Amino acid sequence: MSWWWAGAIGAAKKKSEEDETAVSYQSVALIIGVTGIVGSSLAEILPLADTPGGRWKVYGVARRSRPNWNEENRVNYIRCDISDPEDARAKLSTLTDVTHLFYVTWANKPTESENCEVNGKMLKNVLDVVIPNCPNLKHICLQTGRKHYIGPFESYGKIETHDPPYTEDLPRLNYMNFYYTLEDILFEEVKKKEGLTWSVHRPGTYSGSRRIV
Ligand SMILES: NC(=O)c1ccc[n+]([C@@H]2O[C@H](COP(=O)([O-])OP(=O)(O)OC[C@H]3O[C@@H](n4cnc5c(N)ncnc54)[C@H](OP(=O)(O)O)[C@@H]3O)[C@@H](O)[C@H]2O)c1
Repeated sequence: MSWWWAGAIGAAKKKSEEDETAVSYQSVALIIGVTGIVGSSLAEILPLADTPGGRWKVYGVARRSRPNWNEENRVNYIRCDISDPEDARAKLSTLTDVTHLFYVTWANKPTESENCEVNGKMLKNVLDVVIPNCPNLKHICLQTGRKHYIGPFESYGKIETHDPPYTEDLPRLNYMNFYYTLEDILFEEVKKKEGLTWSVHRPGTYSGSRRIV
């Protein structure tokens, strides 16, 4: 069974069949938003033996205390509010072996201006700690979404948007967008470490299970 199929039909089953012993990790993930739709799937799939990059060691961050359902995942769970720079520094600065950062979280505020401010600070708080403290950090994976091309809800009907199909090279829209803020911060911060690469992922609507308790 391949890693992606295992993820689709229930990685937890496969996980129990795998050997837990003598693991050495070539890839170490830090998932910001580990209890979310995307974060919890990553947390299931990355520790599997046949996942590309080897069996990953995984750290996962969310604000809530670790939910019971998440205990199935082989994750080093870290309770941390990344909107608080002190909390981010206290909880994340001890991590020194991270090779890949998966940023799959967001804050949803009433206005896009607030979204830009709050989400920008969240990402910056993480990068300010992780980039200098993780000498082996290779890649930062930022998830944004389709609103990169169609704008935030409050802009609908007010600006010209792109028609599908959307391609990565389409220019930005003439309206503030927290996804643009995140990208700009990412582009600036990766310059601080030689060889550090990035990717931005812009899915459309997806569904998944995200238990909230
Ligand atoms: N859902 C979609 O259909 C969709 C479509 C396109 C793009 N996107 C984008 O994809 C990204 C990830 O979305 P998602 O739907 O997977 O997210 P999600 O299900 O809403 O999960 C967000 C995760 O982030 C954590 N979190 C939130 N605020 C935090 C904070 N201050 N500190 C630490 N952890 C925090 C949450 O846990 P706690 O609440 O416990 O902190 C949760 O684990 C977002 O940028 C979103 O805009 C989503």
